[in-house]
Amino acid sequence: MKPVIDILEEKICAAMAADTGRQDCAAIVRPATDAKFGDYQANGVMALAKQLKTNPRKLAEQVVGKLDISDICEPPEIAGPGFINLRLKPEFLAERLLEVNKDSAGLGMEKTSKPKNIVVDFSSPNIAKQMHVGHLRSTIIGDCICRILEFLGHNVIRQNHIGDWGLQFGMLCALYEKKTEEETKKEKGAVDYKVLADFEEFYREAQELSNKDEKFKERSRKAVVGLHRGDEMWRAYWEIIVRNSKRHYEIIYAQLSVTLHDDDIRGESFYQDKLPGVVGELKKKNLAIESDGAVCVFPEGFNNKEGKPLPFIIQKSDGAYLYATTDLAAIRYRVNELKADAIIYVTDSRQKLHFEMLFAVARMAKWDKRQNTEYRIQETGEKPQKVEFVHVMFGSVLGDDGQPLKTRSGENVKLKDLLDEAVERAKKVVEQKNPELSPDKKEQIAKAVGIGAVKYADFSNNRTSDYVFSFDKMLAMDGNTAPYMQYAYARIKSIERKAQSKDVDIETELAGVTELNLAEPAELDLAKYLIRYGEAIQAAAGDYRPNYLTAYLYELAQKFSVFYTNCPVLKAAPGQRPTRLLLCDLTARTIRHGLSELLGIEVVEQM
Ligand code: ARG
Repeated sequence: MKPVIDILEEKICAAMAADTGRQDCAAIVRPATDAKFGDYQANGVMALAKQLKTNPRKLAEQVVGKLDISDICEPPEIAGPGFINLRLKPEFLAERLLEVNKDSAGLGMEKTSKPKNIVVDFSSPNIAKQMHVGHLRSTIIGDCICRILEFLGHNVIRQNHIGDWGLQFGMLCALYEKKTEEETKKEKGAVDYKVLADFEEFYREAQELSNKDEKFKERSRKAVVGLHRGDEMWRAYWEIIVRNSKRHYEIIYAQLSVTLHDDDIRGESFYQDKLPGVVGELKKKNLAIESDGAVCVFPEGFNNKEGKPLPFIIQKSDGAYLYATTDLAAIRYRVNELKADAIIYVTDSRQKLHFEMLFAVARMAKWDKRQNTEYRIQETGEKPQKVEFVHVMFGSVLGDDGQPLKTRSGENVKLKDLLDEAVERAKKVVEQKNPELSPDKKEQIAKAVGIGAVKYADFSNNRTSDYVFSFDKMLAMDGNTAPYMQYAYARIKSIERKAQSKDVDIETELAGVTELNLAEPAELDLAKYLIRYGEAIQAAAGDYRPNYLTAYLYELAQKFSVFYTNCPVLKAAPGQRPTRLLLCDLTARTIRHGLSELLGIEVVEQM
């Protein structure tokens, strides 16, 4: 089903067009800010009246005269200079809710009529190192975007653009070689995989050797050259290191219920053989020039503080390629091979300039158009479809001191430690709330609450702002937190359990509902909010902002609370009970869907 707001928008637009003969009308329907004014408000008439140099109130009256929405709304009211206020009819609401109720998996949500191939580049840790808290945001925000787009019917192609190439792999391979030699001297054995289990330690050792041992440094350089040349031995060491490093973050992905798998990995190494071609083509197109020995593109509109054009460097004077070159190769691959209609990059905002310049250069080279469709287009005369590039950026996670989150000793906080601590702390919350539960249950709930709290806190903040990481805040039982939402869900489930003990057969009662009786203000308020779930999802998808979804869920839980306080459910009169049971059930299903399907946060039946 189309969201109500979209239906109203269309109908009012059509009435505006019918009245004025103009095709470019926008009704600008918004949810009303105050229930006094109804449920929705159309604001578009004023702008149209200005264009037509006519009286806005009069125009509003004419538009309303041409508008037939009597199946959806009470007669529209005109307010102020020409606002059109709309109030939904209880019959319409009831019908909608019954529709939503029937669709158990999709909750009545409409799929897109134009499914796109959307590449989402997210998580993308640099694998020689442990994932740190900065990667948390990319991983979970990216995952949430994928889930939402997929739910709306798009074909999502996940790409984990891991940093698996670069100079540091020289020293890591050199250290692996050293350890292999030591082992071989001792006995015939190979290096124990445990050597790589503590990757931080391995990295530190390699760095230390690099700093003090000239011979080792030389060997590292050899390793880099060997890797580039594709020497079998270096390549083999590199593969062992990469494979082992992947294991570390696979554990984290599983812990976070993130939908990223081995076959979504296409790291920087994948593009290495394509880099000379990228530079070659940009030179051929006269877009890349040599500047101070390096090969650069100067996209228009990018200047440094002195007003000088800013270079996008694609090859250094020593011939080495850069992060930027790899990203250009990745765009070509994604557009031509993965057939992307849109590419979304989820990284922190410090990479803003990089992506702005990357997109500008790709457009200069016309790499935002698929090559093979260009061919078809020459024959058919169609306009080539441009690929959309989006940088979904986010701010930093801060500590209490307002500085980027660090451990007490000043190191980056490891994601794994952070998640483990969240679960530990959640255990205490569960212990307080429900000491009678079995240890297994407590463990399971603590995991859901602890991990959920970390994720939810991140989602519920506006992604472009920094936020202060606080276990106390995110684990609080009140406020816009995961435990609050999980508790709201569990509470509805407890109504169901209570019903069972009172011999109320909810399933049968719900199965027989063909009519709803929405009368109490709190019932109407909850019902109107329930049918706005689709709006929230579309808003979140449109702006790639999970906080629109968390805000919706939080308000839904609050409205449910008001309803539950004012309207007895199990003790309701026979004419009212099915409606109220259905409101409970739909609220629970909406919360569960939002949390577990779209945000990847587990719900629990009991808390
Ligand atoms: N590995 C990079 C980092 O940790 C993020 C990569 C983002 N994706 C991309 N295509 N550049 O900063």
